[in-house]
Amino acid sequence: MLIDVIAGARPNFIKIAPIIEAIENQRKAGTDISYRLVHTGQHYDKKMSGDFFTQINIPAPNVNLEVGSGTQAEQTGKIMLGYEALLMKEPCDLCIVVGDVTSTMACSIAAKKTNNIKVAHVEGGIRSGDWTMPEEINRLVTDSITDYFFTTSQVANNNLIKSGVDQSKIFFVGNTMIDTLYKQMPHFIQPAFWDNYQLHDKAYIIMTLHRPANVDDAGKLKELVQEIINSSNNLPVIFPVHPRTAKILTTTGIIAPNLHLIEPLSYLEFNYMVKHAKAVITDSGGITEEATVMGIPCMTLRDTTERPETCTLGTNELLGTDPRNIAPAFRKLFVGDWKRGEIPPLWDGHTAERIVKNIVQIFGLK
Ligand code: UD1
Repeated sequence: MLIDVIAGARPNFIKIAPIIEAIENQRKAGTDISYRLVHTGQHYDKKMSGDFFTQINIPAPNVNLEVGSGTQAEQTGKIMLGYEALLMKEPCDLCIVVGDVTSTMACSIAAKKTNNIKVAHVEGGIRSGDWTMPEEINRLVTDSITDYFFTTSQVANNNLIKSGVDQSKIFFVGNTMIDTLYKQMPHFIQPAFWDNYQLHDKAYIIMTLHRPANVDDAGKLKELVQEIINSSNNLPVIFPVHPRTAKILTTTGIIAPNLHLIEPLSYLEFNYMVKHAKAVITDSGGITEEATVMGIPCMTLRDTTERPETCTLGTNELLGTDPRNIAPAFRKLFVGDWKRGEIPPLWDGHTAERIVKNIVQIFGLK
């Protein structure tokens, strides 16, 4: 059985690594299972793509569709065309897509429309309810044609059931991003700037921002960053800047003695920075999960989350996108009132093994 594993953007790479490893282990144990790694090329910079493959030991992609940048529709169209051509030449038996990026949706559509190839969605069922987010549209479309849902939480299971999915298609397995986190934790790397910026354990803030709602308007972005600087008690604020954000941020001209703007960090460096931070401030979804598992206070600059367990169980709190909510959150942090949090069920480092075991069973593989 040939399984296509699809990856296109930074968070995908982290999620597919343990799945590939689990398929390989199963193959080595004699099961008739193999994979083909398809990189769509949605992210292509060394810092956004290549470095992740090297650091977390992901094998080189078997195929790279090299779609590059573009509008949502351009990227979707190019990925579908490229993947359809591949499937027409060399079909697979199952297509595994992960997460909620454009590549996830585009490849699931191409797979279903090319010989009705079965689709498995890892991280299926999560919903923010915010239809202005491209990721939410990607989730809805992907899940409407998914055959097997591998889910991270009970809330995701319930969302699927509410939307009419049959229970027999849902497999609650946990979180593959956390598989990678546990595996790589002993190898986290202290970045070279640690000494230059005179950083100390639990005495700096790490932040990331890349959602269109926060970064596409220069005025809004400037206000948010300024408020973070004003509220941070002069602690260093380390801000690895996503390429999308970098384009706008340079036009704001924002500077402050404790604000350090740097290029996107590698996986092992970024998570070192999270693990040792006083707090994380972000608009990413995946980072709220990593912060939860590492027990680090996490402030999310969004009104909604598709990962509610990071708030109900974990260390995450939604501040919304109004800059006025930032100062009170920092006050709570500095008086030591931030919740401690716990790790959600099945986020135990063995999710990918469970996914592959289920696939072996579903397809009756020998
Ligand atoms: C994408 C995902 C988002 C994910 C994020 C992680 C979608 C809809 N969004 O958002 O869910 O959290 O990745 O990073 O799939 N660019 C580069 N170099 C690159 C990649 C992108 O310069 O290697 C530039 C592009 O030219 C574009 C911008 O960054 O202008 C945005 O890239 P894109 O892939 O469209 O979406 P992201 O904002 O990265």
